[in-house]
Amino acid sequence: MRLIGCTGAVSLAKNIAKILNCDYEKLYTNKFPDGELYLRFQRNVSKENIYLIQSFYGNINDKLIEVIFAGNTLRDLCAKTITLVAPYFPYLRQDKRFNYGEAISIEIVARLLENCIDEIYILDPHLHRKKSLRDIFKFPAVMLSAYPLIVDYIKSEIKNPLIIGPDEESYKWAQASAEKIGCDYAILEKKRFSSRHVRVSLNKKIDVNNKTIVIVDDIISTGHTILETIKNLKKIGVKKIICICIHGIFIEGALEKIRKAGAKVISCNTIPNNVARIDVSRIIGENIIIKPKKLVVFEQ
Ligand code: R5P
Repeated sequence: MRLIGCTGAVSLAKNIAKILNCDYEKLYTNKFPDGELYLRFQRNVSKENIYLIQSFYGNINDKLIEVIFAGNTLRDLCAKTITLVAPYFPYLRQDKRFNYGEAISIEIVARLLENCIDEIYILDPHLHRKKSLRDIFKFPAVMLSAYPLIVDYIKSEIKNPLIIGPDEESYKWAQASAEKIGCDYAILEKKRFSSRHVRVSLNKKIDVNNKTIVIVDDIISTGHTILETIKNLKKIGVKKIICICIHGIFIEGALEKIRKAGAKVISCNTIPNNVARIDVSRIIGENIIIKPKKLVVFEQ
């Protein structure tokens, strides 16, 4: 078994390899003068179980083409199995044709991977209308979750928490986290008008007295969802707010905007950033160990 750190997950891959005590290699890539990708495996991969670790952020399409080149090259060079481990996997939000003529991005991406990947692990994939990874990938796909780590973080670091989910989709993780912590939770309502325009509203009374408000979401991207949530909470007099997310994409100055709005932000390290305090390498490493190939299970 060999772990290969692609450009989006170099330090995470190193940590996972340490946990697994397995062979590790950084994928060698370079760019031709015109921007084309050059990629090379520097050691023999034939008959090896290869795990490519790649997180898709920043230049997502470059990272995707890297995986496609890597997977196809491994196939050509007769690797025994090719597994993609994605701490953050992209394109899951465009899972249907909202308007005539649109690409259903996630279906196209899944098809591109079919030829070169045998199995995929994704940490907290954002599943909207697709109920399961089985509705997306034709090969075995395993969903891992970092919510237990968020629960542990809240239990050890935050006194009197009240969990807030910013929209109906967050219901499942807000409720499950609150139950494990043994605290209350509330879900707000969100209407999305475009990628940068959402409206969040609090339509019921919640008791925030002496509570530390913890907004929990899977992704913070532009930050508008969180900013709208903070606005609602401030209206009812909340002072102390902490936002915790799995995937901190933080584009267009999202982190600064949220801090300026008066909240502290914490994320997992599926995407490198300044507030990544929750390390997911153990959850990934341990799940790779306890799921031998023959027993790979799909998520519920
Ligand atoms: C959407 O349903 C997700 O759970 C997040 O709330 C969303 O992706 C956050 O995006 P943004 O930070 O751009 O509002």
